Amino acid sequence: MKFTPSLLIIFNLTSLLVLTFQPFPSLALVPCRTTCGNIPINYPFGVDDGCGAPQFRHMFNCTNDLFFTTPSGIYKVQSINYLKQTMVVYDPAMSTCSILQPHHDLVLTDIQSVIIPPSPDTIFVLLNCSIDSPVLNHYKNLCFNFSGHSCEELYASCNAFRVFHLLTNSSPPCCCTGYDTVKFMTMNILDCTHYTSVINTDDLKGVGPLDWTYGIKLSYSVPDTGCERCRRSGGACGFDTETEMMVCMCSSSTNATRECGKNKF
Ligand SMILES: *[C@@H]1O[C@H](CO)[C@@H](O)[C@H](O)[C@H]1NC(C)=O
Ligand SMILES: *[C@@H]1O[C@H](CO)[C@@H](O)[C@H](O)[C@H]1NC(C)=O
Ligand SMILES: *[C@@H]1O[C@H](CO)[C@@H](O)[C@H](O)[C@H]1NC(C)=O
Ligand SMILES: *[C@@H]1O[C@H](CO)[C@@H](O)[C@H](O)[C@H]1NC(C)=O
Repeated sequence: MKFTPSLLIIFNLTSLLVLTFQPFPSLALVPCRTTCGNIPINYPFGVDDGCGAPQFRHMFNCTNDLFFTTPSGIYKVQSINYLKQTMVVYDPAMSTCSILQPHHDLVLTDIQSVIIPPSPDTIFVLLNCSIDSPVLNHYKNLCFNFSGHSCEELYASCNAFRVFHLLTNSSPPCCCTGYDTVKFMTMNILDCTHYTSVINTDDLKGVGPLDWTYGIKLSYSVPDTGCERCRRSGGACGFDTETEMMVCMCSSSTNATRECGKNKF
């Protein structure tokens, strides 16, 4: 039989129809959700067990919104920046410029404090410290001013913190510090009754405390397990839920060890 041009067209039309009417493209059948609420979920994050990096297993939970679980609580994830490898979370129990709440320590697991610690541009402001606080004495050098701001500004600018100097008629000591300080010394050791945290502190020159962003920005990094190669081949990175070995998920019925189209099992 000879292929005439019209036969070729019919053949092409048929294959087009077959492609168009395939109910689901095979990629959509990979058992990993790619969004949670309005947050895109890509490697190394995963909200279904076996998806994303095994290091993040059991830390994330999607119940309408994305939540990050640590020993000190469950934090709502506000955004993830995949380029800068950062994630912003908000602790509704934390004091901010507009609301005073009892201190709620941020506690991470040992693994979390290595693979997803607060970013260097997240500053913890310890407020209403006693004069015996270690950060006013032996560990004075852990306190610093950032982008031209000192912690005293919060007493004067924030409704939530005005109460501290109303009572004493002078401002009690305070300290701006990094995550390591609150990691190694709890608020009880630090002897400060309240704290807040501010993100993007490098951009706050000339901006007053009312306009700062209160929250916690975390910088994540997970060891490279060759996910890029899997992704380039059209797969989604995950792991075997028993061995926690990397799996490249190619379709609902195909997993590969490294990349799609090879090493199927
Ligand atoms: C998932 O997040 C919700 C958020 O409110 C929380 O109530 C629930 O306990 C979380 N589950 C796990 C397994 O972390
Ligand atoms: C500030 O700290 C003192 C103890 O140093 C405490 O008695 C006082 O209640 C604290 N102020 C507020 C508003 O919590
Ligand atoms: C921070 O700024 C305040 C007010 O300008 C100043 O009194 C204080 O000494 C500064 N602290 C440090 C550690 O530089
Ligand atoms: C592929 O791997 C994922 C994650 O471990 C698993 O949930 C899924 O059942 C696997 N699929 C096949 C076909 O083995």
